[in-house]
Amino acid sequence: MKVVIPGGTGQVGTLLKRDLAAAGHDVVVLTRRPVREGEVSWDGRTLGSWAEEIDGSDVVINLAGRSVSCRYTPENLQSMMDSRVESTRVVGEAIAGAARPPRVWLQMSTATVYAHRFDAANDEASGVIGGGEAGVPGYWGYSVKIAKEWERAQERAGTPRTRKVALRAAMVMSPDRGGVFDVLLWMARLGLGGPVAGGAQYVSWIHYRDFVRAVEFLIARDDVEGPVNVAAPEPLPQREFVRALRGAWGVPVGLPATAWMAEFGALAIRSDTELLLKSRRVVPGRLLDAGFAFDYVRWQEAADDLVRRVRRGGERRNVRQILLQQLGLPVR
Ligand SMILES: NC(=O)c1ccc[n+]([C@@H]2O[C@H](COP(=O)([O-])OP(=O)(O)OC[C@H]3O[C@@H](n4cnc5c(N)ncnc54)[C@H](OP(=O)(O)O)[C@@H]3O)[C@@H](O)[C@H]2O)c1
Repeated sequence: MKVVIPGGTGQVGTLLKRDLAAAGHDVVVLTRRPVREGEVSWDGRTLGSWAEEIDGSDVVINLAGRSVSCRYTPENLQSMMDSRVESTRVVGEAIAGAARPPRVWLQMSTATVYAHRFDAANDEASGVIGGGEAGVPGYWGYSVKIAKEWERAQERAGTPRTRKVALRAAMVMSPDRGGVFDVLLWMARLGLGGPVAGGAQYVSWIHYRDFVRAVEFLIARDDVEGPVNVAAPEPLPQREFVRALRGAWGVPVGLPATAWMAEFGALAIRSDTELLLKSRRVVPGRLLDAGFAFDYVRWQEAADDLVRRVRRGGERRNVRQILLQQLGLPVR
């Protein structure tokens, strides 16, 4: 197959590209700064010669969007919105204008579209879409709005010959440097892997092997379209999540943090507490119904496996180096 991955230079794109290329597929990545073989230039907003890559391709997987690991200032939120909606719109235009459109368009979305919720899990059929929750910071609603507009941009695209799937993905956990798991692991190693604000908020996650397998499954399954939750079947409260992570690495303690302390820490690493405090309780109803079998259902097993892979990969950075790197300071 020829697979085109707009925004495929980041964490998720690297995982997919690695696997799809190893399986013998022809993978083309659309990026604003092409440097490697197989990368083609685009701006994420306007049609250009890059659209020729989509014409005649089999699969498009659009991952483009400004990173969400940043302070949620009005400017950053706007840029998170624009980069997602604009890139999705223009990918839709390229598919609509293709003489030989791809048979499937997988569009990244996010599990964040669901409400901050503790009482029950959100599947695609009965889940509660967020934005109207009481007692949460107003700007959390904006992340939900981004997710909704992102999905709407795909829905609106007039691409009748292409099956459309929106991937409502949870945090993809991989052993790679700079990914979500890397950040969580270094926090745990610094002794900061304790419950945050009580730790009752749910964490939804997916092991990267299952993520890649789920994407391949959705490419193959012609009968699945629309939103699909791409998350392991067992999300768990944050305090249990970090306990399992500490157990996997062998860190005896994790300092509990109040919401205030989390705010301070997030400020230090230029991230946002919404990523830590929002309860994301999301389950993969449609994937399970379609017969997808997860290799990693329980977080403890996934965390043990990821730690093993990190250790095998020669994790030689010490705690000081990791801290300096996360603070954006020179590591000598
Ligand atoms: N990682 C996760 O666990 C996770 C979970 C759920 C959803 N997601 C979503 O999945 C997507 C991919 O995730 P990721 O972790 O791989 O993200 P990432 O590492 O931040 O990569 C996203 C890519 O988007 C491109 N991009 C950034 N700003 C852009 C802009 N203004 N216009 C066009 N392209 C832009 C960048 O490519 P170039 O700089 O090369 O152009 C970048 O490599 C993101 O949209 C993310 O929100 C991720």
